[in-house]
Amino acid sequence: MTQRRDIGDLFAQAAGLASGYRGAIDEASTPPMDYAAMLAAFDLPTPEAGAPAAAVIADLATRAQPGLRAMTGGRFFGWVIGASEPVGVAADFLTSAWGQNTANYAATPAAAAVETVVARWVLELLDLPRSASVGFVTGATMANFVGLAAARGAVLRRVGWDADGDGLFGAPPITVLIGDDAHTTVFSALQFLGLGHNRVVRVAADADGRMRVDAFATALASCQGPIIVVLQAGQLNTGGFDPAAAIIPLAHARGAWVHIDGAFGLWARAAPAVAHLAEGFDLADSWATDGHKWLQTPYDSGYAIVRDAEAHRSAMTIAASYLPPVAAGERDPSHFVPELSRRARGFASWAVIRHLGRAGIAALIEGHCRLASRMATCLAAEPGVRIVNDVRLNQVIVRFGDSDAATEAAIARIQADGVLFAGGARWRGQWVMRLSVISGPTTQDDADRASEAILNAWRVVRGANASDDLARNAQAG
Ligand SMILES: Cc1ncc(COP(=O)(O)O)c(C=O)c1O
Repeated sequence: MTQRRDIGDLFAQAAGLASGYRGAIDEASTPPMDYAAMLAAFDLPTPEAGAPAAAVIADLATRAQPGLRAMTGGRFFGWVIGASEPVGVAADFLTSAWGQNTANYAATPAAAAVETVVARWVLELLDLPRSASVGFVTGATMANFVGLAAARGAVLRRVGWDADGDGLFGAPPITVLIGDDAHTTVFSALQFLGLGHNRVVRVAADADGRMRVDAFATALASCQGPIIVVLQAGQLNTGGFDPAAAIIPLAHARGAWVHIDGAFGLWARAAPAVAHLAEGFDLADSWATDGHKWLQTPYDSGYAIVRDAEAHRSAMTIAASYLPPVAAGERDPSHFVPELSRRARGFASWAVIRHLGRAGIAALIEGHCRLASRMATCLAAEPGVRIVNDVRLNQVIVRFGDSDAATEAAIARIQADGVLFAGGARWRGQWVMRLSVISGPTTQDDADRASEAILNAWRVVRGANASDDLARNAQAG
């Protein structure tokens, strides 16, 4: 065991390694070593004897760092993820050091109180009903799970069935209406809840993945019994928003519960220049969003928000004789999430929101949207490059040479060059490259360097394709 007198040096060593790593991120242009190399680096026999803590930490960093991808850098455009704002990371160090098991407010007053306050801040920033409840979960996948669990309980209670107590066997069937381009994790959440990922009615979407109101109205007309509608604020590929203002009143007129997957896009509501895109989403009954995407908190940060706090609590509450009782009107953190023991997720969110403030969050989001459209304009000017989506938010999807092979080759070249990271995705049956401009440190210079590197890579691929064509023609001739 580490002696008390050695703790200070150990923590300082970790902080030094962390700052050394983060300070060098901008220069991290080489792609990381691959998984096999990392497995070899870590794969020691099960340790029989221990080792001194300082040596373990030094060794951990030496082994891990060659296999780390520059996800917290300014030219990381892969998936849709944030960059762990340093103030949040520092708060997370403290969270780990404080070691609070955040189930119960009487046991850990600071960790519970910070969640109560961050819950209010998140509702105010996103302009959602102030009386809604907020659960601090691992991410949007679990936030979708929690919101849909509350939905499942509530719509069945309305027809006299207690799903939380009696489960789903023999329950009246629930119809789930969901957009054709919903995120895969919503289907996972439905699966976890016994609602099935196939047992849904998929509603047709437009070219940018937004649910079509006419198709929704037709699908709704043929529904019977309890209904849950899942809408999306920010489609993964296009950044598109379902037309919430038109759909939610139709759904509510039929007694449906409306859940929103707004993992990143819901944050448009915190940025005046793009807030109109997410209009009407406040009318819903539950919302899932992430801190570890646009808000830039470190990982393990999602918010499950439910208008009817009692429905939320009833879906999640864990009670036991050894847990202190909760006073009327008070909030126990464990009443709004699936877990009992967990880290104190509120501290990092508190630190990031306190550091950026409403103005800083709006500037961050608006800046990313401006850079996304700047990159799209720059790339679209190049022969053979096509921007596939209507770029209104932060997502840009790009097709090269109008073929899957050329697009894959361009992505491979871009990744090998290592100036930026961007990945591929399938959209409407075609392979595209996706740029997600959502990393806190991304500057205009990063965006311009990335655009230039993408064009350079594409020119090489295009040149190679042209010489292949020439060679083939010569052979044929
Ligand atoms: C629209 C959408 N929903 C849900 C998720 C899942 O979020 P998480 O990975 O935080 O669980 C994502 C992740 O990219 C997303 O983009």
